[in-house]
Amino acid sequence: MPSMIFANKDEIYRFIKFFNGEGLVTASGPKWKRDRRLMSPIFSHKTVEKYYPICVEQSNILTDILKKELDQKTFNVKKYINRCCTDITTEIILGTKTHAQSGALDTFLETVSSKNKQLSNERDSVLPFVDYLLQIRDEIPSFATDKELIHHITTIYTAAEDTITSILSFTLVLLGMYPKIQNKVAEELKETFGLEPREVKLEDLPQLRYLLMCIKDVLRLFPIAPFIMRIASEDCQIEKWTIPKGCSIMVSIYNLHRNPDHWDKPNEFYPEHFLPEAISKRHPYAFIPFSSGPRSCVGKPLAYMVIQTILATILQHYEVEADGTLQEKSLKADISTRFKDDLYPIRLKQRIY
Ligand code: HEM
Repeated sequence: MPSMIFANKDEIYRFIKFFNGEGLVTASGPKWKRDRRLMSPIFSHKTVEKYYPICVEQSNILTDILKKELDQKTFNVKKYINRCCTDITTEIILGTKTHAQSGALDTFLETVSSKNKQLSNERDSVLPFVDYLLQIRDEIPSFATDKELIHHITTIYTAAEDTITSILSFTLVLLGMYPKIQNKVAEELKETFGLEPREVKLEDLPQLRYLLMCIKDVLRLFPIAPFIMRIASEDCQIEKWTIPKGCSIMVSIYNLHRNPDHWDKPNEFYPEHFLPEAISKRHPYAFIPFSSGPRSCVGKPLAYMVIQTILATILQHYEVEADGTLQEKSLKADISTRFKDDLYPIRLKQRIY
């Protein structure tokens, strides 16, 4: 995985190109290499942390909106999470508020065009991704045409919004199905925030170790990309197998993440898979939800920051309940992994410690 021999995408990614054009996910060769190098700083911890206030604001709005589901019947939480993630990603990428959570969702295209009109206006000190892309183009005019800029923006938007929505929805359902695990999360939240809910600060996130272990086990069970594909750019040898130049390679992340050689309880929700001593005994490439090597996900720091903050905010206020077990829910794993019915049913009760 760390090798540049497998940095080129297989032809199967053609269909993503059809929707999103040639952004970082689909590009290969010198164009991808240059764009990745130029764009990487935008996704660094240092840059991404500047967006933390957006993340907190939208987490608080979501928690407020969810109040109406308190003590009600089972509902599909994904619909709420989806709007929250739309608001977060659009503001981070375009610098425009969509107000999807409050029900006044502009269409994506309207947002892009209103953004263009807004460009000449005064900016806050925190620039959205699109402005960083424009800055790169100011310095290196050959970086992207207008059309290529839109390809980059739609690629980043789709890579960010759907993935974060899914992982949050899966995690809430699983915590609802497994109250003993949720109780451990609640203990950690109580220790970190105290008996009364308070706003989550960036400095709180490293304290939430068990919550992070839960998120990682969800990423293991439901890898957003169940498989990835590459083309070998040179002949190479992997153990006893010779891979000829031009050969397509598929890595099934789904099967790797459920391989009993690597995991004590491969098909169960078991956050203890991510205790430090368990990690140290495991192969470093046994857990690759963000892929690994030169084509790994650039959005990992942003994804963890948003997911942890939203969960820590909601779970301080509410206890989640969900029926059934993981084994009873059928999965669909093609371009992404989701519940087959695409329903993420939970109930909410006030959390009282
Ligand atoms: C839980 C959340 C996420 C997961 C599990 C995830 C997973 C992945 C995986 C597995 C890949 C490799 C795909 C392949 O090789 O075919 C990837 C690539 C990528 N992801 Fe993510 N992703 C997440 C969130 C994000 C976010 C938030 C962003 C943007 C802010 C993002 C942007 C990208 C981009 C641009 C690539 C292509 C990188 C390249 O090829 O150079 N992702 N992601």
